[in-house]
Amino acid sequence: MLDVKDDLDKIIDLSIQLKKKNKKGEKTHELSGKTLGMIFEKSSTRTRVSFEVGMEKLGGHALFLSKNDIQLGRGETIEDTALVLSRYVDLIMYRAMSNKAMKDLAKFSSVPVISGLDDKEHPCQVVTDLMTIKEHKGKLRGLSFVYLGDGKNNMAHSYLLGCGIAGVDCTIVSPKKYWPDPYYVDEAKKFGIKVTITDSVKDCTKGADVIATDTWVSMGDEAQKEIRMKEFKGYTVTEEMMKQANSDAIFLHCLPAYYGYEVTKEVAHGPQSVIFDEAENRMWAQMGIMVTLMRSV
Ligand code: CP
Ligand code: NVA
Repeated sequence: MLDVKDDLDKIIDLSIQLKKKNKKGEKTHELSGKTLGMIFEKSSTRTRVSFEVGMEKLGGHALFLSKNDIQLGRGETIEDTALVLSRYVDLIMYRAMSNKAMKDLAKFSSVPVISGLDDKEHPCQVVTDLMTIKEHKGKLRGLSFVYLGDGKNNMAHSYLLGCGIAGVDCTIVSPKKYWPDPYYVDEAKKFGIKVTITDSVKDCTKGADVIATDTWVSMGDEAQKEIRMKEFKGYTVTEEMMKQANSDAIFLHCLPAYYGYEVTKEVAHGPQSVIFDEAENRMWAQMGIMVTLMRSV
């Protein structure tokens, strides 16, 4: 998120414009002849499909590279993978097990690397979510955002940074054990927004414009599933909580969702939910990101 802090407004506006143009049937082949390499070390529905189709809409081509099918999975180094792929492709998207691997790939690549999620951050999703909020609310600055659930996962961390950059007050409601890494809280505060970290669910959505959650068991946390289900009890986003928020509040979830746990199906598929606009916007936001990156190289 911090890498796009000076370009965020521009990316969001470009993404909205690309969406409008495509819906009108206009061609947006700005990346004609360009190739995106997509390395996946974890599963994906949205990230894979939205990048692949998005690249096609820009006139380019995307390659799906599952870790198990490339030599990275057999011990070739990140450094050599980056150096080699940089000779073939114009952009790399990486869904990594660790933030360290993400940073290493970016360090050794001579082409831009886009994070498609790691254990610490999920920036493309948060750029998308800010775009979705802007579409629904017409603005970002001054809004109040409340996230419930796992405060220590990639979404919570990227929300803190994204809210900071966009000027949105950010509340994270999570059991103490799952409070965000202090680095992300400190970085968010540097933008001058109001940051609240609390374990108190009572009245937590009062005055909120946007309510979000994410799975209690992220990819990589599966071994802790049982204990997490117990520890997050009470942090489910319910219709009651939505009623306490501002009457025009919207609900976000990056998906995949587990109904009855982090959110009820009634909320997720209810009138205030915009989760499928959000899922669609992954494609438009990532097109905005790719075009912005390729214009700057
Ligand atoms: N939200 C998201 O990144 O979904 P996928 O894991 O399906 O890519
Ligand atoms: N926090 C979730 C996001 C999935 C898109 C995970 O890392 O599994």
